Amino acid sequence: MRISGLAIAGLLLAGPAGAQQATIFSEMDRIHPVWAENGMVSAQERLAAEIGRDIMAKGGNAVDAGVAVAFALAVTLPRAGNLGGGGFMLVHDAETGRTQAIDYRELAPSGASRDMFLDDKGEADSDKSLYTGAASGVPGTVAGMRMALDTYGSMPWADVIAPAIRLAEEGIIVTPDLADSLEAEREALMKHPSTAKIFFKEGGAGYRPGERLVQADLAATLKKVAAEGPDGFYKGAVAENIAKAVQAAGGPMTVEDLAAYKPVLREPVRGSYRGYEIVSMPPPSSGGVHLIQILNTLEGYPIGALGHNTAETIHLMAEAMKLAYADRSEYLGDPDFVDVPVAALTSKDYAAELRGKISAEYATPSAMIGPGDLAPYESDQTTHFSVVDKAGNAVSNTYTINLNYGSGLVAEGTGVLMNNEMDDFSAKPGVPNAFGLVGGDANAVQPGKRPLSSMTPTIVLKDGETWLVTGSPGGARIITTVLQVVMNMIDHGMNVAEASTAPRVHHQWLPDELRIEEGISRDTLRLLAAKGHTISEKPVMGSTQSIMRDPASGALLGASDPRRPDAATLGY
Ligand code: GLY
Repeated sequence: MRISGLAIAGLLLAGPAGAQQATIFSEMDRIHPVWAENGMVSAQERLAAEIGRDIMAKGGNAVDAGVAVAFALAVTLPRAGNLGGGGFMLVHDAETGRTQAIDYRELAPSGASRDMFLDDKGEADSDKSLYTGAASGVPGTVAGMRMALDTYGSMPWADVIAPAIRLAEEGIIVTPDLADSLEAEREALMKHPSTAKIFFKEGGAGYRPGERLVQADLAATLKKVAAEGPDGFYKGAVAENIAKAVQAAGGPMTVEDLAAYKPVLREPVRGSYRGYEIVSMPPPSSGGVHLIQILNTLEGYPIGALGHNTAETIHLMAEAMKLAYADRSEYLGDPDFVDVPVAALTSKDYAAELRGKISAEYATPSAMIGPGDLAPYESDQTTHFSVVDKAGNAVSNTYTINLNYGSGLVAEGTGVLMNNEMDDFSAKPGVPNAFGLVGGDANAVQPGKRPLSSMTPTIVLKDGETWLVTGSPGGARIITTVLQVVMNMIDHGMNVAEASTAPRVHHQWLPDELRIEEGISRDTLRLLAAKGHTISEKPVMGSTQSIMRDPASGALLGASDPRRPDAATLGY
């Protein structure tokens, strides 16, 4: 019998640490999680994870650490960590038992309009929504981090930004992954001299692994933010430079838009799955709603008994996913602008109705579920980190500038890479965005509106206490990636490392294909094809950063997804 994460935690605390160490992990466990007693950070980049861990070791709480990690990733993981983007943070306060969501998603500028991404022929122009000044929403990260620290933190603002300033000023050693990702986006980054001079050497040569990348302008912006608070970003020279650069690149963002930016404290969306409480991000993310909808649908089937990644289980998952993504295209948008039927979509009764539409034998063609185009969906960049401290406070944070290095535009003198989040709006009903996701009126562009997201920072509670903190990048695949970590642990008894590593599947209704990672047996794929699924083997999905806490003992077990390099889960 394989030992689950809970059982490992029980063993860890069963006796004197030294005596127990040799027998902590069963040889039957395929993959071992990282273990710690006091605090843990799981993040896509090691230096940032170290900063968060050290902050907790010096007495900071999970939110102090989380804010420091967010600022550090803006330096060490420039393709996704950011000041020029936005995201969502879920915070669980162990003392009150309350979980809240901080929505610091980007906003459409006041000059944005419904048809701004259509060309002369009325067709959606993805170059415009991805690689011009118009691609950028008003960034939310700096204001969001301030809201998190003011509401839940214990440390001074300047102290949690200081490590990021040091990294930007002294430089970071370029890893193979950073060098590769810069090369991959060379064309977009070289388009803007203000960007090229930061991420490439004079003459245009790329940085090689082992070389030092200094970001002096970003250090100066961080210093302003540390000294002046969010005003150092949203007002004055930084805001003026951002507005000027965005306008010169064809966007409508003004200094007034920047000065007016406000994050929102929201109630998370909640559900349950086989006795666990699922707490996740509400709209303007679609993540939490559809995570709970899919779990509700699958709860009616004996998934554990059907087995992990068997044809039966994958078939039911794919059918539940399709139904959820079809609903996403119709109902989801910014709740400040449209009524999102969250209660209905996450109700157990609605899930029962959905189960009535699922055949155990045959895949229902997507065209019978709803109309749409087949579309490619490829690159995506976003990043997630999880933090848990000794008291059980938890931070689950996913933030992004959308695609790798966002729009590629750095406003001169700021060092801030601007997002291309406006592409997450539905440029034209039924036309897919960069992730192949289609949408309708609910997600049409409007001034001051937040584009619909799939980011799914999630906290799973057991008896009111933190049990699992997880999340992932991956565009449209974020929801189903988080789903599978949760199911792998609850249905299949995997520990958090196994749950993070097991091969993943994904269906998003349109295109009508069951996307799979390598590692699922050919027999299984044949059985799925016989049920009518179109199988599409594609590159890996997601990069989860997860921490599991044993509520009885407080032991922490964490794992960074092995799918992407440079990630680290560190405890103390
Ligand atoms: N930009 C990807 C998302 O928010 O889902």
